[in-house]
Amino acid sequence: MTVALETQGLRKSFGGVLVIDDLSISVKYGEALGIVGPNGAGKTTWFNLITGAVHADAGKVVFEGRDITHLARHDRCRQGIGRTFQIPKPFTGMTVFENVLVGATQGRGVAERASYDRCIDVLQMTGMIKKVNVLAGSLTLLDRKRLELARALATDPKILLLDEIAGGLTEVEVQDLIEEIRKLRATGITIVWIEHIVHALLAVVDRISVIQFGRNLCEGEPHEVMNSPEVQACYMGGTPA
Ligand SMILES: Nc1ncnc2c1ncn2[C@@H]1O[C@H](COP(=O)(O)OP(=O)(O)O)[C@@H](O)[C@H]1O
Ligand SMILES: [Mg+2]
Repeated sequence: MTVALETQGLRKSFGGVLVIDDLSISVKYGEALGIVGPNGAGKTTWFNLITGAVHADAGKVVFEGRDITHLARHDRCRQGIGRTFQIPKPFTGMTVFENVLVGATQGRGVAERASYDRCIDVLQMTGMIKKVNVLAGSLTLLDRKRLELARALATDPKILLLDEIAGGLTEVEVQDLIEEIRKLRATGITIVWIEHIVHALLAVVDRISVIQFGRNLCEGEPHEVMNSPEVQACYMGGTPA
């Protein structure tokens, strides 16, 4: 498998505090990579550096062999990098369909009329098709998460970055989400999933990378990584994975 996305020696400080410290991680085509690490470790900032929401002080972001470090956010999205946000913020006064349409048009730079089919597809894929006319502001947390996923998928990403999409859901809802993400995987999309709910990650990902203090602590086969003494010490507080 060849490399789809790579960050090389990324560094980022906020107000003199080093948050991302020489972070190098690569993701292969078709792979599902899980990311774990304590709160404040820099996981979301790493996504922000990949998508261009935040710009690096040093290092590179390489996507499909091209250096995209200095590319604007919308250009990175149009090249195929999609993401969900840790706290979904849909346009609450707009319907589910309208929210997804924004993703499909803005994210791809495509006219509305040419985007309807894509919207229908992703709404079907995420189980939101029956709620197209519901106002996003009245959705349950699970449906907000599904809408967040649909909005990201509407941009037609080659790689999908999921930021704690299972957080706050009940166990039954987490199982639903796992099924949906598995189905997505089967379509061949490359996935990077930051998640605290470890059993959800273990059900989906091929590999786990651990971020601590903005650095890559270790990475490898998911169960091995989660059971390794260094990860237990830094992240799990001794709880078996
Ligand atoms: N835009 C920002 N401005 C200032 N500090 C930030 C910003 N984004 C993140 N941080 C800080 O960077 C650190 C890492 O945050 P984050 O990447 O959100 O961690 P994680 O997602 O691993 O919990 C935190 O201390 C956070 O407060
Ligand atoms: Mg985060």
